[in-house]
Amino acid sequence: MNEAAETVRLFFALWPASDLQAKLAAWAKQVAGRGRVMRRENLHLTLAFLGATEAALVPDLIALAAGVRFAPISLPLDRVGYWKHNRIIWCGAGEEPPALADLVEGLRARLDAAGIGYDRKPFVSHVTLVRDASGLPAAPAWIPLVWEAGDFALIRSARVEGRVSYQPIQRFAAQAG
Ligand code: 2AM
Repeated sequence: MNEAAETVRLFFALWPASDLQAKLAAWAKQVAGRGRVMRRENLHLTLAFLGATEAALVPDLIALAAGVRFAPISLPLDRVGYWKHNRIIWCGAGEEPPALADLVEGLRARLDAAGIGYDRKPFVSHVTLVRDASGLPAAPAWIPLVWEAGDFALIRSARVEGRVSYQPIQRFAAQAG
């Protein structure tokens, strides 16, 4: 990377509609304990995390993502859990639908082909709901939901007045049928 170049912090994600974000946030508040509840408008599912990336590459990233073919995704949010290693409470799918795997593989293959770096940890679909949590209480129980995702987005992560703000740069639609 050119050291003098302007960089932006980027990732690709599925972005829930605000009514789904509100449901997730409401449950998160009830189980958070002393943990830090993610703000409703920031809730998302990361597909590929790029981190600091040259701003000049954004048009290339948009062109690359627009070429990814995937069907609309019905994602069951039927699992919740707590990961000790990063102290998050999350929700996700017990079984990932093939359309989601297609999207992640297609996107990551195109990033690889373009030589654009991203976090190569294996994909485990999850929405982070609470950070710095010390566990997941038994109640209230999670009520499974289905997330109908018809697109994904390129997101810029920025600090605005000391708070993390996620700003959609562009959305990319699934192919019908
Ligand atoms: P997490 O919620 O499991 O921490 C923005 O930081 C988003 O990118 C979060 O959803 C975060 O996942 C995800 N992410 C994936 N890899 C990351 C990394 N190496 N550093 C920071 N965030 C990462």
